[in-house]
Amino acid sequence: MEALDIPKVLADFAPEVGLILGSGLGFFADDRIEVEGRLPYGDIEGFPVSTVPGHAGQFVYGRLNGKRVVCMQGRFHFYEGYTMQQLTLPIRLMAQIGVKTLFVTNASGGINRSYTPGDFMLLSDHINFLGTNPLIGDTSDDGVRFPDMSEVYDAALRMKIRLLAQTKGLDLKEGVYLATTGPSFETPAEIRAFATLGADAVGMSTVPEAIVARKLGLRVIGISCITNKAAGISKNPLSHEEVSETADRVRPQFVELLAGAVSLA
Ligand code: HPA
Repeated sequence: MEALDIPKVLADFAPEVGLILGSGLGFFADDRIEVEGRLPYGDIEGFPVSTVPGHAGQFVYGRLNGKRVVCMQGRFHFYEGYTMQQLTLPIRLMAQIGVKTLFVTNASGGINRSYTPGDFMLLSDHINFLGTNPLIGDTSDDGVRFPDMSEVYDAALRMKIRLLAQTKGLDLKEGVYLATTGPSFETPAEIRAFATLGADAVGMSTVPEAIVARKLGLRVIGISCITNKAAGISKNPLSHEEVSETADRVRPQFVELLAGAVSLA
C-alpha cells in the first residue's frame, strides 16, 4: 500500500487513540471531545465518502481527558460497495499518524438470549463471516504477511474496562461478534446457525478494521451497542429505525462507557 497523503494539521496533531463511531454513535465526538479540528473525508485524496444516513463522514480530532484522539464520525461499510481496501484506509491513516490504540464501536443485533436492546458488549473475539479478508493482495511490509489473530481485542485493556464498568454499576456484556456483509438483515435460520457457531451478536462492520489494525500492530478494543434482538429472537421485523432509536436512547451511558474506556488506554 502506498503511504497516504495526510493533511498536515491532522498528522501534526499526532493522536494517540483512534475511535470509530458506528451507526447512530457519531454523537460521541460532539458530546465528549474538546474539538481541535474536523477533516471531512472528501478533503483527503483517495478517500471514499460515506453514503449512509446518519454518518457525517469526517474525522473529528481533539482531546478527551487530556488524551489526543481522532474519531471517525461515520465509517465505511462493505455493503456500501467499497472494496475492503477502501474501507480500511482510515486504519492505515491512523497507524501512519501514530495512533497506538483503536476503539471500534458498532451497533449490533443480540443473538445471545440474555442480551436486551440497550446493552453494551465488549468484543472478546470475532467471527469473520464476510467471505473475504481486507489483507488479500496486501504485500506491503508494514506487518507480517500472516498476522496472528489469537487476541484481536486486547485482553489486558478489556479487563480494565470490565472493572471500570463494574465500578460504574454498568452491566457490560462480553462476547463474540460475527460480521456479515449486509445490507439485508439476517434470516432466523441464519441467526440459529450463528448461535451454533458461537456468536453472541451480529453486525455489518468492525471486523475488516480490526484485522487491518492488528496487522499494523495497533491495540484494538471493540464495543458493541446491542440495538435489537436478532432476527427470529425478536418478535418484530428488524429496521434501521429501531437501531437508531436504541442507540439514541442509551446515548448518555454509551458516552460514559467509551470516555471511561479511552481514559484507560
Ligand atoms: N443484524 C446485523 N446488523 C445489525 C443488526 C442486526 O440485527 N442490528 C444492528 N446492526
